[in-house]
Amino acid sequence: MPPKRSLAWLMLLLIIASVRDAAAGPLAVEIIRPNFTATSYEYIDTAGGAFLESRNGAFRAAVFNPGKQQERFYLAVLHAPSGTPVWSANHDAPTSSSGKVQLTAGGITVSDTSGTTLWSTPPLRSPVAALRLDDTGDLQLLDAGNATLWRSFDNATDTLLPGQQLLAGAYLSSAKGETDFSRGDYRLGVVTADVLLTWQGSTYWRLSNDVRAFKDTNAAVASMSVNASGIFAVAADGALVFRVSLPPAEFRVLKLGSDGRLRVTSFALVNSSAPISGDFVSPAGDCYLPLQCPSLGLCTAAGNSSTCTCPPQFAASVTIPGSCTPGDGSTLASPAVCQNNSGGAAVSYIALKPQIAYFATKFDAPTNTGVNKTACRALCTASCACLGFFHDTASMSCRLLGGKQLGSLYMGASDTSLGYIKTFSSATKSGSNQNSSSPANHTVPIVLPSVAVFLLLVVLAWYLWWRSRMSKNGKKKKGKNSAMKMYLGRQKTPSADTGGYNADADDDDGDDEDIVIPGMPTRFTYQEITTMTSNFATKIGSGGFGSVYKGELPGGEGLVAVKKLEAAGVQAKREFCTEITIIGNIRHVNLVRLRGFCAEGSRRLLVYEYMNRGSLDRSLFGRTGPVLEWGERMEVALGAARGLAYLHTGCDQKIVHCDVKPENILLADGGQVKISDFGLAKLMSREQSALFTTMRGTRGYLAPEWISNAAISDRADVYSFGMVLLELVHGRKNRGEQEAPVAGENSDLPSGWSSAMTSTASGTSGGGDEYFPMVALDLHEQGRYLDLVDARLEGRVAEAEAARTVRVALCCLHEDPALRPSMATVVRILEGAVPPPEPRVEALGFLRLYGRSYPLPVPGSLTAMAGSGTMSNASSTAGGDSHLGEP
Ligand SMILES: *[C@@H]1O[C@H](CO)[C@@H](O)[C@H](O)[C@H]1NC(C)=O
Ligand SMILES: *[C@@H]1O[C@H](CO)[C@@H](O)[C@H](O)[C@H]1NC(C)=O
Ligand SMILES: *[C@@H]1O[C@H](CO)[C@@H](O)[C@H](O)[C@H]1NC(C)=O
Ligand SMILES: *[C@@H]1O[C@H](CO)[C@@H](O)[C@H](O)[C@H]1NC(C)=O
Ligand SMILES: *[C@@H]1O[C@H](CO)[C@@H](O)[C@H](O)[C@H]1NC(C)=O
Ligand SMILES: *[C@@H]1O[C@H](CO)[C@@H](O)[C@H](O)[C@H]1NC(C)=O
Ligand SMILES: *[C@@H]1O[C@H](CO)[C@@H](O)[C@H](O)[C@H]1NC(C)=O
Ligand SMILES: *[C@@H]1O[C@H](CO)[C@@H](O)[C@H](O)[C@H]1NC(C)=O
Ligand SMILES: *[C@@H]1O[C@H](CO)[C@@H](O)[C@H](O)[C@H]1NC(C)=O
Repeated sequence: MPPKRSLAWLMLLLIIASVRDAAAGPLAVEIIRPNFTATSYEYIDTAGGAFLESRNGAFRAAVFNPGKQQERFYLAVLHAPSGTPVWSANHDAPTSSSGKVQLTAGGITVSDTSGTTLWSTPPLRSPVAALRLDDTGDLQLLDAGNATLWRSFDNATDTLLPGQQLLAGAYLSSAKGETDFSRGDYRLGVVTADVLLTWQGSTYWRLSNDVRAFKDTNAAVASMSVNASGIFAVAADGALVFRVSLPPAEFRVLKLGSDGRLRVTSFALVNSSAPISGDFVSPAGDCYLPLQCPSLGLCTAAGNSSTCTCPPQFAASVTIPGSCTPGDGSTLASPAVCQNNSGGAAVSYIALKPQIAYFATKFDAPTNTGVNKTACRALCTASCACLGFFHDTASMSCRLLGGKQLGSLYMGASDTSLGYIKTFSSATKSGSNQNSSSPANHTVPIVLPSVAVFLLLVVLAWYLWWRSRMSKNGKKKKGKNSAMKMYLGRQKTPSADTGGYNADADDDDGDDEDIVIPGMPTRFTYQEITTMTSNFATKIGSGGFGSVYKGELPGGEGLVAVKKLEAAGVQAKREFCTEITIIGNIRHVNLVRLRGFCAEGSRRLLVYEYMNRGSLDRSLFGRTGPVLEWGERMEVALGAARGLAYLHTGCDQKIVHCDVKPENILLADGGQVKISDFGLAKLMSREQSALFTTMRGTRGYLAPEWISNAAISDRADVYSFGMVLLELVHGRKNRGEQEAPVAGENSDLPSGWSSAMTSTASGTSGGGDEYFPMVALDLHEQGRYLDLVDARLEGRVAEAEAARTVRVALCCLHEDPALRPSMATVVRILEGAVPPPEPRVEALGFLRLYGRSYPLPVPGSLTAMAGSGTMSNASSTAGGDSHLGEP
């Protein structure tokens, strides 16, 4: 704009503004220019004190008086049709009804009656020419060239709107109440690996733990946003890290409520006044909120609502209504009391009953791991910031509780995590006759009658809660029984129900629901699984056996991956349960644990522990996200090898995995590496298994004996593992196909299926890349191991380890199974305990043949081999039907 014209503009505006100043309030549209002043009473006529409206009419800037309490007035942006405040300026310094909002060339100021500035925009780099409220609800200060000097979207309060980003390190902060916008204690923060809800520094929700959140890559989160298709956390390069898909809606308001809940309210159009149904609310259960009950109240869910009681050994506080204080008269620890306590009162701890959990224990990472209770307690005693601790005897982890005060407790399901609340014994306590509060006595708990009665009540409440949940879900009567069996009778009751087996296995209502096999994992009803997975909302993968969904066990027992076996109903329930019992009892740190299952009608579902970094192929071959470092690759190799070695030699019954590939090696934080899908081939009928094997067979991990005339043994897994080792070294698929669409739409575990369809025809082309095992053999002969290593590592690699890995990988690939090392030997070689043997070049010649033309199994010709694929006992698989015609 030429200076002359802008001067004329300013003059004109000055006149208009002063006219406005005198006569109160027409609602400006989109733009206001300095100098401008608004007070509440001037705009009292316009709804809600609004003085500026966006062009689409959906947003208004106002001197807003929430709840018409006439005390606190805020400069705010409102979503006009619904009357929802979406941003406020002076939230911590409200003005009165006669306070002023002024727009000058220097920015916006909010002042009180006496003219004292309560809030202002930060210093700007050039004079303000206009205040604009755009169609997304963003309030902006523009200079003469229309450049943005400041925008409200950069300083989110408790709300995020479409088009607005919450950057890593920033947070939304809740209001204290519906009419008091000063900042409360709840925060929604974006951190590198997640989006968190916290209260006084303790986490009570994680996006990554939400059943509805799908994780696309392991890249670092750079920002969070909400839009017409859902909630997103994206990386710096724009790659999606997390997404929560929501039904399409043009406009959404993501708001952190004063109650600590995160809510996404959706509107069909930006100017709709009523939200459409299907809100996103987190956390869902009352009892997962930090302050659902006042400090140390025990929250118990009852239908939609919840009740608060004091845990055993605590009594209702007289001074702070609703909160609980130690029954023995000691004082709860707080940072202030602790600092005041110069050697006076003694620190002691009140042990909480098993299963009583603190809202944050599920989400906050342990303060320490590998420490015993004594050490954990000492850590707490040494710190004034520590108000208590939880120690998990199973994982030996220690969580110190902090904050200004403690929040709510709830009934969890973990028996191994025990809580201790720190107290200072008061002076009068010296003559006290009860010592039961001291944790020193905890090992010999004195079950007082009142405690027993209480426990009974808790159990009853628990049962009633379940009952109401079950009836809400429209469950059948006997479902209740199995739920009770699950939650109250975790210790299996082999004799009680075994008589109930009904041969009519596919009848949903048959008594076969009562099949009980000693040691059988937890059995869930289909309804429970539906609840667990929010009606199968988040598909995290689709493997050879069916789709995998994210879920959460009731009672905060953790996340799970639910595998829905496709068309698996052929196998009778009794056999299925037998196999499940075998798989479920295989426990090893490198094997994915089966938490439970469901067999109802023809439905077969498996509930596994959840591995949050997804499968190895995503981390190894994915092009977004950090490159898997050499050290991590070696850890993966060793972990996977140990898992397989255990399957081959550590169980009662030898288990040949038959499907070792990066898609079946899962990773989780803390360097966890676990093999998945073991034992599953046995759950399939021969036909299904044949189909599955066919699909699987196209991927280049199949040992030559699968397609020749030899028997299948555990050495077939060794071969596949050798292929995986080479891929770990190389960082790419051995066969240079167009790289698999890793982490694409719903493909957490993109095994077999899709690529099988596409690569059959182009299998021999190699996409311009040479067959890597052949290259590895050549370079091994020349001793050039470093040339084989993934270039993305830029030399961050230990040459000796690279040489060792390539050598052992080549030995695993020997054509003759008898010449391959056992998995146990591979483990010892990878550990460095024994030197790698020399690969036999003559036993690897077939790789050159494969390199030129890879014979692909033809579907249909494979039916015969299904039998061998499903055998778990390798020694018995040499039968004639494990052979296969030459392709
Ligand atoms: C706005 O008011 C200030 C002080 O009252 C004055 O110096 C300035 O010139 C005014 N600006 C315009 C554009 O009228
Ligand atoms: C600034 O934007 C308004 C409309 O938003 C337009 O009318 C005006 O010409 C723009 N001014 C300049 C200098 O670009
Ligand atoms: C507004 O945002 C800036 C940077 O984005 C930050 O430095 C500032 O503290 C924020 N102000 C408020 C009141 O949140
Ligand atoms: C919503 O945002 C995500 C992430 O930025 C993006 O991938 C998606 O296409 C957006 N959806 C719409 C409807 O704009
Ligand atoms: C909302 O906006 C649409 C156009 O975007 C318009 O047709 C409709 O009348 C508006 N509805 C209301 C209630 O203002
Ligand atoms: C529970 O919530 C649903 C919907 O939110 C409501 O219809 C029902 O009346 C509530 N029940 C109780 C007991 O509050
Ligand atoms: C700390 O001690 C002082 C004096 O001993 C007392 O006045 C104060 O109330 C104490 N503060 C707390 C939090 O106990
Ligand atoms: C706990 O660990 C410490 C060392 O961390 C050890 O000295 C102590 O004996 C352990 N106590 C028990 C009961 O194991
Ligand atoms: C309480 O325990 C202390 C030591 O732990 C012991 O000296 C005292 O006698 C006990 N008091 C009672 C009443 O048992």
